[in-house]
Amino acid sequence: MRKVRKAVIPVAGLGTRFLPATKAMPKEMLTIVDRPVVQYAVDEAYEAGIEHIVFVTGRNKAIIEDYFDAQPELLDTLAQSGKHEQRMALDRLLPQPGATSFTRQQAPLGLGHAVWCARDIVGDEPFALLLPDMVSYGKRGCLAGAMDLYDSVGGNVVTVEQCDPLETNRYGIVGRGRAAGSGFQITEMVEKPAPSVAPSNYYINGRYILQPEIFDILGNQERGAGNEIQLTDAMVRLSQSQPFHGQLFEGRMFDCGSKEGFIQANVAFALARNDIRNSVLDPIRELLSYHDAKSDAA
Ligand code: UTP
Repeated sequence: MRKVRKAVIPVAGLGTRFLPATKAMPKEMLTIVDRPVVQYAVDEAYEAGIEHIVFVTGRNKAIIEDYFDAQPELLDTLAQSGKHEQRMALDRLLPQPGATSFTRQQAPLGLGHAVWCARDIVGDEPFALLLPDMVSYGKRGCLAGAMDLYDSVGGNVVTVEQCDPLETNRYGIVGRGRAAGSGFQITEMVEKPAPSVAPSNYYINGRYILQPEIFDILGNQERGAGNEIQLTDAMVRLSQSQPFHGQLFEGRMFDCGSKEGFIQANVAFALARNDIRNSVLDPIRELLSYHDAKSDAA
């Protein structure tokens, strides 16, 4: 079985759900506590054993490339002012030289098109795909579980979580077949089915391991919903000739492309940090009792 060495992280979307913040600022650079959203995806990829990360960027996204570059003046200043711990922390975040690539999606024609833009850099090998605005929260990153399943059953892997059965029309939903390794065989994939026809409530939560044949299918440039080149459509085509497996994620994903998910992620990650937990929790408690008192009075 071919090893998964590379991960694609698409960061070229317009982030319209987060306007006006994303008018000049990529949504992937919004911060959860003190790290940009995209850093969480990169950490998760490395935790899962990824060696090389391919970013698919676009106009107004150059700051992402700068973020993953060295900042010698800053490092010198930190060293001179004795802030060695901060300096080392920045050093640790720096990718290995030559272990990142950046390519541009010249027009935001959809996720499928963004993935296709990475085809030459990925080449003829399986790769991981992480949608960075889906931020993984749990003991272990979501991609690590997908890698375990891939190592035991191969093929293509998507990770899933369960949604409210009445909300299947908001997600890409999979049909659940027989057990396979730590996961299950996928019998079908449907984009946003109505609850009455959805094959399950297992939704694809933004982590994939895909075989390179997906690029040939995406290369046909067929438009789907929203006149965009849809990844799900290409996966459905690929599933006619290759197996797809599902791995249930045991943590939870925050959709940081939405305001609610982003705020929830900030609270969750802040509460998980010993250095700031109490100074965040106590004011939240106070705010809650203030709002409860106000609604009781109304
Ligand atoms: P989303 O659909 O959440 O991103 O894509 P979006 O289009 O930026 O969001 P809204 O709906 O307008 O708010 C998931 C990931 O795929 C990337 C996005 O940057 C995001 O990380 N993406 C999406 C691209 O790189 N190119 C695209 O054409 C679309």
